[in-house]
Amino acid sequence: MNDQNLKDAWAAFPTGVSIITSKDFHGECHGMTANSIMSFSIDPPLVLISVAKSRESNILIKKHRKFGLNILNSDQNEIANFYSAPSEKKIINKINWDLVKYNEVYLISNSLVKMACNVVKQYDHADHTLFIGSVFKLEVEKRKPLIWYDRKYAELV
Ligand SMILES: Cc1cc2nc3c(=O)[nH]c(=O)nc-3n(C[C@H](O)[C@H](O)[C@H](O)COP(=O)(O)O)c2cc1C
Repeated sequence: MNDQNLKDAWAAFPTGVSIITSKDFHGECHGMTANSIMSFSIDPPLVLISVAKSRESNILIKKHRKFGLNILNSDQNEIANFYSAPSEKKIINKINWDLVKYNEVYLISNSLVKMACNVVKQYDHADHTLFIGSVFKLEVEKRKPLIWYDRKYAELV
């Protein structure tokens, strides 16, 4: 087993695509494309996200103790591409999408699911941090999800 085998294994696992949003040091929206997300519990409403320590988002979420979780619809792959770029490339926003702010959490308009969360626990291990977020705002739309499979974006047929 090596890194490549492991990456190939995870490329065989289809997931949805989300953007985890945080607030940058100027109070602007910072985003990161993420698929290491899951429901932690329904009652209470908790989610779990895994963020590499090397990501700008890791620092920002630890600072503000809040994040937005936006599950993307099949029309939003441009947004996924934009937010998977390294932080320095995100300075110029070349495509347009609307953000709403709820209780200091940025949410991406038209997303399939929008959740605003407070960090209630964090666990650093190896090169990642697991954040457990308590959901205090939830909106769900009826649309098709964006899919990540075999290192490409796809949609359900
Ligand atoms: C489909 C997809 C899923 C990703 N999922 C995660 C993830 O769950 N956690 C993570 O730390 N990085 C993930 N990444 C990588 C980040 O999106 C990428 O490193 C981003 O540039 C981090 O942004 P930041 O450093 O500005 O916070 C994913 C990338 C893609 C394309």
